[in-house]
Amino acid sequence: MFETLQKAPVDKIFALLGEYRADKRTHKLDLGIGVYKDATGNTPVMRAVTKAEKRIFDNQTTKSYVGVSGNRGFCDSVTDLVFGDTVDADRITSVQAPGGTGSLWVIMQLLHRAKPDATVWISDPSWPNHYPMLELAGLNPKYYPYFDAKTRSVKFEEMLATLDKMGPNDIVLLHACCHNPTGANLTPAQWDQVADSMKRTGAFPFLDLAYLGFGDGLEADAYGVRKMAQSCPEIMVGFSASKNFGLYRERAGVAIGVAADKEAAGIVFSQMANIIRASFSQSPDHGAEIVNVIMNDPELRTEWEAELTEMREKMLTLRTNLAGSLRKASNSDEYDFVEEHRGMFSLLGLPADAVTKLKTEKGIYLIDDSRVNIAGVPEHDTDKLATAILDVLE
Ligand SMILES: Cc1ncc(COP(=O)(O)O)c(C=O)c1O
Repeated sequence: MFETLQKAPVDKIFALLGEYRADKRTHKLDLGIGVYKDATGNTPVMRAVTKAEKRIFDNQTTKSYVGVSGNRGFCDSVTDLVFGDTVDADRITSVQAPGGTGSLWVIMQLLHRAKPDATVWISDPSWPNHYPMLELAGLNPKYYPYFDAKTRSVKFEEMLATLDKMGPNDIVLLHACCHNPTGANLTPAQWDQVADSMKRTGAFPFLDLAYLGFGDGLEADAYGVRKMAQSCPEIMVGFSASKNFGLYRERAGVAIGVAADKEAAGIVFSQMANIIRASFSQSPDHGAEIVNVIMNDPELRTEWEAELTEMREKMLTLRTNLAGSLRKASNSDEYDFVEEHRGMFSLLGLPADAVTKLKTEKGIYLIDDSRVNIAGVPEHDTDKLATAILDVLE
C-alpha cells in the first residue's frame, strides 16, 4: 500500500516554527506563525474565555453529542456578530465547523457539489492553504491580481478589471478584512465597486473572515462581508473564532450561507449538514460553547470586546512604532505602508536571501515571502528590529 506514496511537502509555516523552537539563541524572535502574542511573547487565554470555561466546567452535566450542525447558540451569535441587522435573517444559514479552515472546507465541498467545473479565484498572493484546499476539494483555483509588490498596496484597477470579465461560473474568494499575508486591504469604496461588479457579472462571492475585529474594529471589519451580502443574491462566508477569541486549538468556526430566500437557505443548510455528517459527523463543542457563553452574557461580552480592542490597539501601536523605526533607520518613507496596513500581518517585500539572513544571522524568523507577524514585534525594541532588517538588505 504505502509504496505508492511519496513524502508530502512540509507546511512551511509549521516547519519554521519547528526550526524556531530548536534554535538555542536566547535573543531569537518569532515573527512567523500567525498567532497573537502579548508583550511577553505568550498567546494568552482571553480573560472572558477563562471565565466562560469555569462556568462550563461548573454547569455542564453531559458530554453527549450536540448534533451535526453544531452548537446553535454559537452559530447564531456569530451570524449576528457578522451581519447584525444588515441582512434579512431568513436569508442566512449556518453550521459549525472545526475552525476557520473547517468552515472553508465545508464551503468548498458545497461549491463543488453546486458547480464542480467552476473556477475559484484567489488573491495573488493569498493564505497559503487556500490553493491546496481548493485543489483537494476538486475545484479549479486561479489567481486574480491583488498585491502590488512595489507600493505594497492593492492593485485595485487590475483586480477590478479581472473581476469585470467574470461570469456565473466564477467564484471569487475574498479576504473579508485583514488580508493574510499582505496586510493590504480594500477600502469601503473599493468594496462597493467589487460588490457592483460581482452583482453585474453574477460571479459568486466567497468570503474568508478569519480576523474580524483585528483591523479597525468589529463593525468596520464587517463592512465588506455585509456589503457583499446586501448586493449579491448569494454568498458564502467562512468564519474563524481562532484569532478574535484566542481559541486556536479549540477549532471553532462557522460556515455561513446567505441565500436568495428562506427556502434556498434551507437547502444550503441541509447540504452543509450532509457534508459534515459524511466527513467528520460533527464539530468539537468546547470552543463553540465558550463563545456561546460569552456572547450571551452581557458582562462577559463587554469584557471580551474590551480585550479584543486592547489587542487591536496594541497591534496598531506596534505598526506605528515599527514604521517609525524603519523611517528613521532607512531615512525614507519606503516602509510607511507598515502603518497603513491592517490586521496581524504585513508583507515587507524583502528578497528571500534577506529573510534567510535574518534567521541565520539575527535569529529573527519570518515566513520566506517576508510576511511579518506584527503581533510578535517587540514593543520597546522596534529600533533594533528595523536596524536588523536594513542590515540584511545591505
Ligand atoms: C486567511 C485565513 N483563513 C483561515 C484561517 C484558518 O484559521 P483556523 O485556525 O481557525 O482554521 C487562517 C489562519 O491562519 C487565515 O489566516
